[in-house]
Amino acid sequence: MQRFTGEALYKLFRANAADIYAGRYPLEYCERLADMANEALELLSQRHVLLLVHNYQYPELQELARDAGGYIGDSYGLTLKAKETDYETIVFCSVAFMAETAAILLPDRRVLIPARPGCSLADPVDVEEIRKWKTRNPDGKVMSYINTKPDAKAESDYICTSRNAPAVVAHVRSRFPNARIYFLPDKYLAAHVMRTLQIGPGDMDVWEGACHVHKDLNEHMIENASEEHSEAELLIHPECGCTSACLARIAAGASPGIQFLSTEGMLKRARESSAKEFIVATEAGIVYRLRREIPEKVFHPVLSTAHCKFMKEITLENLLACLRDDKNEAFEVRVPPEIANKARHAIEEGMRIQ
Ligand code: 13P
Ligand code: SF4
Repeated sequence: MQRFTGEALYKLFRANAADIYAGRYPLEYCERLADMANEALELLSQRHVLLLVHNYQYPELQELARDAGGYIGDSYGLTLKAKETDYETIVFCSVAFMAETAAILLPDRRVLIPARPGCSLADPVDVEEIRKWKTRNPDGKVMSYINTKPDAKAESDYICTSRNAPAVVAHVRSRFPNARIYFLPDKYLAAHVMRTLQIGPGDMDVWEGACHVHKDLNEHMIENASEEHSEAELLIHPECGCTSACLARIAAGASPGIQFLSTEGMLKRARESSAKEFIVATEAGIVYRLRREIPEKVFHPVLSTAHCKFMKEITLENLLACLRDDKNEAFEVRVPPEIANKARHAIEEGMRIQ
């Protein structure tokens, strides 16, 4: 039986993705996508492979995960799902560091990825710099965001995600009150942590990194969107360039409807909030999932062209190539055991704290 049809995909994408993927989904392309999705569905089931898809991914990958009994989520959720499952093989539609995190936690499973997308936060981190900081601060604690490569994770004491970054810093400060903290690699997430915990730059060293998508989502865009949609609640990812300004607005009591959330936190908040309309400040791909799963509410991307070029290296075309040739080692994610063993400890320490 053919589960996907071009017509059905065309209607879904026209209703939920016309602004965020303008011109991408004519009917003929939806028909090709439906054929590919039907074959992928068959292969996932025949080969007993679990499909994990990040919230930013193309709508066709999200639809496939939904039909295949896979999972769509944020970086923490994907990691947790990989850990909970008994599937021998897991395929990630995400940037590479997310698949690497699963490969570190699950050395006895096969973790596949159709391409090796980087990340503008993870890629520039120089591990030598972390080692130098540790030499200067022998009692210090290194706290890395999950958006880091395995070698940086291996030099870290704790790994946090956008869900639990303030909680992890608070934990480290109470457990090691005299330890200096090195937080990397996102300066906007660091600013969010510092404002949340009311700590100053004197308390924490910060790697001055930023995401190429989120740094451009600035205060002016937020103000314009809020003027245009005055009833809408603001859902903001803490990687955004507007983080400090928005936190200052909250502190001044000006904008009670501002929430700083991980991508999965946005889904949860939108379901639970009494607001009917939302402005979404993060990568625009998540807006498809929000509209698809919460059709009774309205979602406005703060910038409909805010797409992560790395995430979008994964396509249904290369996922299908990976599934057809799933024994090919080129698709397999492997982390050397000496790095994985150190990194695993830091990830597990961070995951314990919520
Ligand atoms: P989430 O963990 O919130 O999905 O964020 C990951 C990410 O890369 C955001 O740009
Ligand atoms: Fe990395 Fe930014 Fe893409 Fe997230 S959106 S994966 S932080 S480059």
